[in-house]
Amino acid sequence: MKTQLLQTSILNESLVHIKWSDYYESVTAIHHYIERENGELTGWINAPIENSGVMLNSILQTANKIKLNADVLVVVGIGGSFLGAKAIQDALTPYFGQIPSGIEVIYVGHNMSGTYIKQLLKSLEAKSVYVNIISKSGTTLEPALAFRVLRNYMENRYGEDVQNRIIVTTDAKNGLLKKIASSSGYRQFVIPENIGGRYSVLTPVGLLPIAVAGIDITQLLEGAKIAALQLREESLEKNEAYRYAVIRHVLYKRGYKMELLASFEPGLSMLQEWWKQLFGESEGKEKKGLYPSGVIYSTDLHSIGQFIQEGNPILFETILHFNEIATDCIIPFDRYNRDGLNYLSNRSFNEINAISKQGVIAAHTEGGIPIIQLELERLDAYHIGYLIYFFMRSCAMSAYLLEVNPFDQPGVEAYKSKTRELMQREIVYKESLA
Ligand code: PA5
Repeated sequence: MKTQLLQTSILNESLVHIKWSDYYESVTAIHHYIERENGELTGWINAPIENSGVMLNSILQTANKIKLNADVLVVVGIGGSFLGAKAIQDALTPYFGQIPSGIEVIYVGHNMSGTYIKQLLKSLEAKSVYVNIISKSGTTLEPALAFRVLRNYMENRYGEDVQNRIIVTTDAKNGLLKKIASSSGYRQFVIPENIGGRYSVLTPVGLLPIAVAGIDITQLLEGAKIAALQLREESLEKNEAYRYAVIRHVLYKRGYKMELLASFEPGLSMLQEWWKQLFGESEGKEKKGLYPSGVIYSTDLHSIGQFIQEGNPILFETILHFNEIATDCIIPFDRYNRDGLNYLSNRSFNEINAISKQGVIAAHTEGGIPIIQLELERLDAYHIGYLIYFFMRSCAMSAYLLEVNPFDQPGVEAYKSKTRELMQREIVYKESLA
């Protein structure tokens, strides 16, 4: 009987031999280090166990108010203040038409495209709008600029009612956004001080937009809580998150420098983006780290599939697999069999997708690609909550195995400060010409 909600396995053991005992000692030592919550940004480790009902209730109340009054919620944020919410929304809401809550939840502040923001504003005409600005630092340029535009738009359109329509999610004490929120009287949610951006999706950062999208956040948090309880197991033999971390570490050391997170469900492409940020920002430092990338099958079998099968052998694949996907479509019978596909009639797409997955595994094994599988029972809020926590726990273990700090991002900070510097220099130069 399966005791864990997620199984980690190697699908082609002939290509990947792991001597697990080599890692018993280091994994146990790192496990105790993680459990001691060393460092400032380790609040996510026990947050799902300690979460207060008060926080959850106040998110649900605000989400209900938005659902009652709004046609659209505009979420402003970037990186960890954007990707998690969008990932979960895309994974758990229908591909087409309205999402279950009937509210559009749309995102801005994660690019600098003038066209994007102009068209977004245009799309808001004649709709009742709420805005949720999310930024831990409160100073990141992209969301700060988008928020300036939106605040201006909201003030012109709603006058004093703007106070009820703008919700700020930021640090409890620090940052410009905190000051703006307090002086303007906006409703505020706190990003815990000890949880960093890419580990924050299970805080108000992700929970408010996800709840507005009509996803059951109680189930999401319950799944994360079970993960937090199960994955505090120190034994490498029993901890599926640590097993995943060790397999990818061994492959990295054997020269596989790139990991492809593969899924056969297109709704998971933003989840791949969230995962890319989590692992890329946590491990990619001091000239070390696996390059994280994502592929959606079948789409990518007909593009990057050639490279995977026969190109530079630098990559391995991690298949994210859900045994049950709620909706399916049956292939109809054609009495003339005009396309010769009657041998597949009355079979379902999900069934055929599963067979195609076996074909991909066989072909990639022949091509020498190591394949890991992360298997969960069902694609729903509960299992996604589990998966999110699973990845965060593996990521911390994985980064420490590489001897890098999983919780900082000096490279991102470097880009942020260089851009600010350049912009200020450019403006001073332009002003001197005027
Ligand atoms: O993981 C991180 O800390 C970063 O990627 C941040 O999430 C990102 O830079 C956005 O930062 P902020 O929420 O401060 O605007």
